[in-house]
Formats: sequence, structure tokens, C-alpha cells
Amino acid sequence: MSGNPLAAAEPWDLVADGYAAEALAIMEPFSARALELAGLSADSHIVDVAAGPGTLSLLAAPQSARVTAIDFAGHMLEVLNRTAAAAGHTNIETHVGDGQALPFPDGEFDAGFSMFGLMFFPDRTKGFAELLRVLRPGGVAVVSAWAPVVESPLMRMMFGAMAAADPAIEEPQPNYLSLENPEVFATEMRTAGFAGVTIQRHTNEVAWDSGEQMWDQMARSSAPLTVLRRSLDERTWSERATIMRDYLTTNYSPRTPLATTAFLGIGHKPA
Ligand SMILES: C[S@@+](CC[C@H](N)C(=O)[O-])C[C@H]1O[C@@H](n2cnc3c(N)ncnc32)[C@H](O)[C@@H]1O
Repeated sequence: MSGNPLAAAEPWDLVADGYAAEALAIMEPFSARALELAGLSADSHIVDVAAGPGTLSLLAAPQSARVTAIDFAGHMLEVLNRTAAAAGHTNIETHVGDGQALPFPDGEFDAGFSMFGLMFFPDRTKGFAELLRVLRPGGVAVVSAWAPVVESPLMRMMFGAMAAADPAIEEPQPNYLSLENPEVFATEMRTAGFAGVTIQRHTNEVAWDSGEQMWDQMARSSAPLTVLRRSLDERTWSERATIMRDYLTTNYSPRTPLATTAFLGIGHKPA
């Protein structure tokens, strides 16, 4: 089991409503790119592993026959179901479950995705193996993971705020043994049995009207901030929240686009 608190469902459950309301402008373009890369057809049945509030599932629903979404955070899937119903999508089904042990038969899907989900699995090998197992021969998988924080001005701004409030928090250094390293990413996919593996870099930019607005959105939608908040008493959190908000108000120039970059790994199940 990994010591990463984001490998547990609880922080994601807690943040589900805020994530759905606030994080989509950052997250959705990566899912849109993943769908382009997969090249779905109208009769495709796809699986979205670690679907969250349906960032990819909701985009995929109009361009495929069936979408099966799975996540271990039930509250995320409740949000997904509500949004799908409001949008009139009738071809999305959701399952609460672990992406490392998919409750689906072999060869069930034409395409499989895990957008910023498999990267958190304590056992990534199992995550990739399960994704491959449930694809039909010739099926395609697209998996995404963040590039190192140092390459993403948006994430640097967020960690800058956290470090201003608590000097014990440091900007994460690149982890070359993780999916932050495109060579490791490709090797893990190939070792799992995927063929024709390529890793693509994709960048999205987001802007806010003010540092305060940026803070409000982050405080509502960020799982790392939720984890931090839960580790502190209310008074300490309130003091640190004020410092983080002030940091963003001072350091973020209104309406300046901040970039964040991810790697998208694409591979096929051998026919
Ligand atoms: C950063 S969110 C990504 C959500 C969505 N795919 C997106 O691109 O916006 C990470 C998601 O992974 C889910 N997750 C993490 N580990 C998981 C696991 N082992 N099994 C299922 N879901 C998991 C979390 O509950 C959360 O919804």
C-alpha cells in the first residue's frame, strides 16, 4: 500500500462537488485530447477508469455507444450520475470499484481510459494489466499523468502558496521513477503488454479574474488541499488559508494564463 493519501477514496469523496464545479476547465481539455487520440466510433463501448465526476465519460457519451465509468469514490459517481441525467445521457453506467481489480470480463471494451487516476494507484502494474485485460484485441488505451510540477506554472503557483503557509512543504521534485518520466511511462505500458506505445505531451492554460478567485476555486476543488485541511485544526487551517489566499492575491496577475502539462500514454492491445 502506498503512503500517498490520494491513493484512498476519502479525499476524493470529500472534494467531489467542488471538483466537478471548479476543476473541469483545467481537466476537460486533457480528456478531449485523449478521446481524439483514441478515435472512437459510434458503436464503441468504452471504460473510464478512475472516472471522477465524469470528465471524460460525459464528453465520450455523445460520440460512443456505451460508457462504463468506474471509481472508488462513490460521491464522485453520484455527481457523474446527476450530471449525466441533467444532460440527457442514457448510455453511461457507473460502478464503485478499484481500478486495480476491474469487475469486468476480459475483452469487454473497444477503448479504455484512465485520466489522472491510474497515476495514483499503489500498484500501477496491476492498473495497466487490468486495463489491457478488459480491452478487446486491437482495442486502444489512453492514460494520462501530470508532468513534473517544475514544468507547470499553475502547479508551481499552488505549491508556492502552500509553502508560504508552511515552510515544511516543498515543491515536489521530479520523480523519475513515476509516470512523470515519459520513458518509465512507455516502459510500464509495454511491459503490461500494450503495443505501439507512444507518449504525447499536452498542455492546457487556465486564467482567473483574480488571485482570490483562483484561491476560492482551488480551496473547493483540490484534493491535496483537502488532505492538508483535514490534518490541521480549524484555527491553524484558517491562518494558513489566509496566507495562501494572500500569496495568490500578491503573486497571480489577473487574467494571466497559467499552463499545466500532462503526458498521455497511448497503446493498443495486440490483435
Ligand atoms: C484527479 S481525479 C481524476 C478524475 C477524472 N478522471 C478527471 O480526469 O478529471 C482522480 C480520480 O481517481 C480516483 N481513483 C484514485 N485511485 C483509484 C483507484 N484505485 N480505483 C478507482 N478510482 C481511483 C479518485 O477517486 C478520483 O476520482
